[in-house]
Amino acid sequence: APPLKIGIAGLGTVGAGVVRMLARRAEAIAARVGRPVEVVAISARDRSRNRDCDLSGLRWYDDAVELARDPDIDVFVELIGGPDGTAKAAVEAAIAAGHSVVTANKALLAHHGVALAAAAEAAGVAIHFEAAVAGGIPVIKTLREALLGNEIARVSGILNGTCNYILTRMQEEGLSFDICLDQAQKLGYAEADPTFDVDGFDTAHKLALLAALAFGVQPDPEAIHIEGIRSITLADIEAADELGYRIKLLGVAARIGGQVELRVHPTMVPKHWPIAQVSGVTNAVAIDGDAVALTLVGPGAGGDATASAVVADLCDAAAARGGAPFGWKASSLQPAEKAAIRRH
Ligand code: HSE
Repeated sequence: APPLKIGIAGLGTVGAGVVRMLARRAEAIAARVGRPVEVVAISARDRSRNRDCDLSGLRWYDDAVELARDPDIDVFVELIGGPDGTAKAAVEAAIAAGHSVVTANKALLAHHGVALAAAAEAAGVAIHFEAAVAGGIPVIKTLREALLGNEIARVSGILNGTCNYILTRMQEEGLSFDICLDQAQKLGYAEADPTFDVDGFDTAHKLALLAALAFGVQPDPEAIHIEGIRSITLADIEAADELGYRIKLLGVAARIGGQVELRVHPTMVPKHWPIAQVSGVTNAVAIDGDAVALTLVGPGAGGDATASAVVADLCDAAAARGGAPFGWKASSLQPAEKAAIRRH
């Protein structure tokens, strides 16, 4: 089958991670989705920056919107970020050009997801956004596919790696808020504008997307009660500790009567609860369905973890046009007797 040709806008920590992962896993991905997945074009502000990945032979654009209109790509990957501006214009241009979109941009989808989804439906293209919520945790696929048969009562958890990293280091090492935030930025966890992280907006954007999937509610950050962690002091953390609690920034979406309640705020969680022990950049999402209740725990931010989700979405996009009922092409499935599982 012909390769799936992709264009990536934005080559920061996540974008470079995607390029590296696609190169490293090229053979396995081609075998599993039935066709190669190839980066053919990119756009980034700074061409000269060293990104530790092979960009030779790719078409370079200065303008993400022009990349989005490139007739020789199948899928447009948006890793620019931000609720408006270039990211929005580029995604709109990609959809108008008939390209499916893969994005990690929770702010964009939380604010404009309904309009973009309608445009995508009209154009007959897909929008994939696994990377937009909780980094490497496959929570979108879990809600959209695995738990589809459930009526969901509640989705809640730790959805911002930066805040959990800050709260954990304040708690464990007695470091100040500012030092911890600075570290989170250096490690590539924080948003370009860390206000989105520490003031709870990033958690709210992700919660809005989870609520859309779980409850069929339009994403709308305005509908969410939002309080961040900026005012949390070491004294607060110590006082909570003495009382037997950890302070966590939680996002909660719950069905209450005929309505859905959406809130983001620092919460006192009893120390022995599993969610109190989720530390550092790790995220946790608890889903309460009527048949299945589960908690997903994993890396919520960072280049490689988020790239993993982008690559999975690219594989979905590739498979959607070829088809692989078992997740692998039938021709590349191993015969059972040669597989690793042995009968005793
Ligand atoms: N800034 C986000 C976080 C990145 O810290 O969770 C992942 O969406």
